[in-house]
Amino acid sequence: MKINIDEGYLAYEIRGTGVPILFIHGYPLSRQIWRPQLDGLQDRARMIALDLRGHGDSFPFEGPYTMDLLAEDCHMLLKELNTSSPIVVCGLSMGGYITMALYRKYPQLFKAMILTSTRPGADSLEGKANRQASVKNVEQHGAGYIADDMLQKAVSPITLSSKPGLVADINIIMSKTSVQGIVGALKGMMERPDSTATLAKATCPVLIIHGVDDQLIPIKEAEATHRLIPGSQLVKIPAAGHLPCLEQPEIFNRAIRDFLTSIV
Ligand code: MLT
Repeated sequence: MKINIDEGYLAYEIRGTGVPILFIHGYPLSRQIWRPQLDGLQDRARMIALDLRGHGDSFPFEGPYTMDLLAEDCHMLLKELNTSSPIVVCGLSMGGYITMALYRKYPQLFKAMILTSTRPGADSLEGKANRQASVKNVEQHGAGYIADDMLQKAVSPITLSSKPGLVADINIIMSKTSVQGIVGALKGMMERPDSTATLAKATCPVLIIHGVDDQLIPIKEAEATHRLIPGSQLVKIPAAGHLPCLEQPEIFNRAIRDFLTSIV
């Protein structure tokens, strides 16, 4: 399904019945990363999964895409769908940065928050320089450059050797992202603010899920976020890297089920 925005459109899908959950994917990915959740949690939740602008089946808008802009897109989609709040918002990596931006602006929207493979901090100077270099490379060599650069680091070494079909699927998801989407997201992430104070003040229940083998955002960052948010829960998933929702879907879905039981 699609909704029109800003002379373009966003693609999304809705599955299941129960607690409303908005799923926000990371970069350079799409709603396809939530396939095991959309299939496996249908009896427990009404799940809305969108493709962010420039990603998946959504329109390749020119960037930059600030986290606030992407959060507004999510908010608009929820409004268009007449979703009654409060809801659970689940964001992976850049999707987590967007979740934090959404919480800063609309805390009343949140019944609870699930942060996976993400961090509250802003980019370091080195991180910003790396993003600038990636922008140049993608503009020169096309979207495939990013998939080649990120794929091996995006999953655990165990996934890489034992699940070649899954790795090929992730490659397809990444390669589908438009150049505009990649550049727009890189420029937006580079400028994102530090959300440490936002999370420290979070009053809704928070679940943090992180792959033990995450090479892009190391597990120690999730442990620090857990210490930062009083009452938060942390689930560490073994044999998973940056994409635990795909790499260990049964453990991931169990963590969501247990969390939902603890909050409703
Ligand atoms: C993501 O998965 O969204 C990215 O790795 C986040 C980032 O580059 O900071």
